[in-house]
Amino acid sequence: MCGIIGYVGTRDVVPVLIGGLRKLEYRGYDSAGVAVVNGNGVEVVRAEGKLANLEAKLADKPLHGTFGMGHTRWATHGKPNENNAHPHRDCTGTVVVIHNGIIENFLPLKHQLQKTGHEFKTETDTEVVAHLIEEKMKSGMKFEPAVKKTLKELEGHYALVMINANEPGTIIAAKQGPPLVVGLGEGENIIASDVAPLLAYTRNIIYLEDGEYIIANDKKVDVFTADDKPVHREPKKILWDAVMAEKEGYRHYMLKEIHEQSRAVRDTFNGRMFEESAEIFFNDLQFTPKEWAKIRKIHIVACGTSWHAGLVGKFLLEEASRLPVEVDYGSEYRYRNPIVDDGTLLIGVTQSGETADTIAGMQEAKAKGAKLVTICNVIGAAATRMSEGVIYTNAGPEIGVASTKAFTTQLTAFYLLSLYIKQLRGLDKDDIRYAMHELSVIPHKIETLLKKQEKHIEQLAHKYQRAQDFLFLGRGVHYPIALEGALKLKEISYIHAEGYPAGEMKHGPIALIDENLPVVAIATHTPVYDKVVSNLQEVKARDGKLIVICDEGDEEMKKFADDVIEIPWTVEPLQPILSVIPTQLLAYYIALRRGADVDQPRNLAKSVTVE
Ligand code: M6R
Repeated sequence: MCGIIGYVGTRDVVPVLIGGLRKLEYRGYDSAGVAVVNGNGVEVVRAEGKLANLEAKLADKPLHGTFGMGHTRWATHGKPNENNAHPHRDCTGTVVVIHNGIIENFLPLKHQLQKTGHEFKTETDTEVVAHLIEEKMKSGMKFEPAVKKTLKELEGHYALVMINANEPGTIIAAKQGPPLVVGLGEGENIIASDVAPLLAYTRNIIYLEDGEYIIANDKKVDVFTADDKPVHREPKKILWDAVMAEKEGYRHYMLKEIHEQSRAVRDTFNGRMFEESAEIFFNDLQFTPKEWAKIRKIHIVACGTSWHAGLVGKFLLEEASRLPVEVDYGSEYRYRNPIVDDGTLLIGVTQSGETADTIAGMQEAKAKGAKLVTICNVIGAAATRMSEGVIYTNAGPEIGVASTKAFTTQLTAFYLLSLYIKQLRGLDKDDIRYAMHELSVIPHKIETLLKKQEKHIEQLAHKYQRAQDFLFLGRGVHYPIALEGALKLKEISYIHAEGYPAGEMKHGPIALIDENLPVVAIATHTPVYDKVVSNLQEVKARDGKLIVICDEGDEEMKKFADDVIEIPWTVEPLQPILSVIPTQLLAYYIALRRGADVDQPRNLAKSVTVE
């Protein structure tokens, strides 16, 4: 949902901005632009499409300076063309603005400004901010008070970076909704939508809260509240390595992230699970048995892949707690007046911690008295700051738009949480110890699976790449995996795919089955294995092409299916961590064969910070 970066210091600013935008491009790639202030005033270069187009333009027309800003866009208001690309300027061309979010009242503001003679050049909501600042400066105000006054007039969600070419060296940035982080360097300061672009320069990061704004130059950064009170906030030390956000020789981030899952799952349980004493310990989440006893129901709120993790979580948490668990999309939950009270535990699941719908759902529950816990991958993200408890997934930065390692680590977090609940309920320690042991060997099983099956799945991708539709089937804990497999395939290969509970197929989707429809089914040994096999017979009887993800050594399945993908055995609650991996690889290799842009699929963005 747009990536923004601002820099003030002593370095040549364009490489800093472009390097940063490369790391932010996952947030949107409809257009990109930079503004640099130097002896020639402010110079702006913008280009439609991906960052590479902007880089080509800058190669033809190099810009130099030590102060500037950059933007990569996911279009909301106005077509994704060069004219609507950020940065945007006022009538004089000196006030320059970049923005992530939506200014909801931009229309009345625009009409008002037009009446006073302002000329708008773009269809964006953002441009109004530059003109509002200009309007105030026209009546003699300095840049700083003009910005402060402007911020008070804006409604909606924004992360804004604003400069005035006549006051080089001062950056003002403001946050209301979308994320904004500030990196404190030596003789330089840098502001961006997330920490990845900052890590090459500093590890000292300040996370801004909603309503706050900063005034920065190369020597200092002052933080203020919405009502202009100074804020003293200690910077956080970020331990991520800048290299963790690089491709490390893989062709795509997605493939790298699929291969990182063994490490990521291990990092999610390491230091939290103690097999000998059969104890689970979370740093940022602690219930006393008395507090736990007050919980009467659990609501899980999430979007997309995280919602699928929530569906698996429902199985695990209901079994562990014997409490009713509901799972809802953030976009539905926030408007359905859910029944929530102080006996409700709300679990928000979000890789980024900034998905607008999930956060709104969490706010809704909080306002009604629920206790909030977040399963999140980004330290200090908005969702974590509003929660009483957090389970960080420790997957490391996920750059590919299609979520992979974030998902398997969310499943790991739910598994740990289910064991934690069993511990709170005083359930049998030997059972908990056994469950822990099974998790401890999962990373090794992921590695084995990748080693044995990746080449085979690549061949299957070749075989099935031309299919126009896919059906994914699963039951129980594998039904969410069927949904996730279908989502992965459609978002990166643009092939239509549907996920369905295998037992429900006969109530409609069976009509689709013929020799042209590949059906990917998950049929590992669970209590409903025989039922799934019967459902698959129904597919075979209608000539559907069956690709079955099954347990290693399932000889019967080999006779019966067109193709099988064997995965190592594990206990039922952990099976989704393994069964999803073949679906990720299948989607990846099919998308690759079809020439799709795997890491940056069309129309999508990694973090959806608008409604
Ligand atoms: O950051 P979040 O986990 O809140 O994001 C939720 C969805 O937008 C995200 O999972 C999306 O569905 C992915 N592109 C799926 O691969």
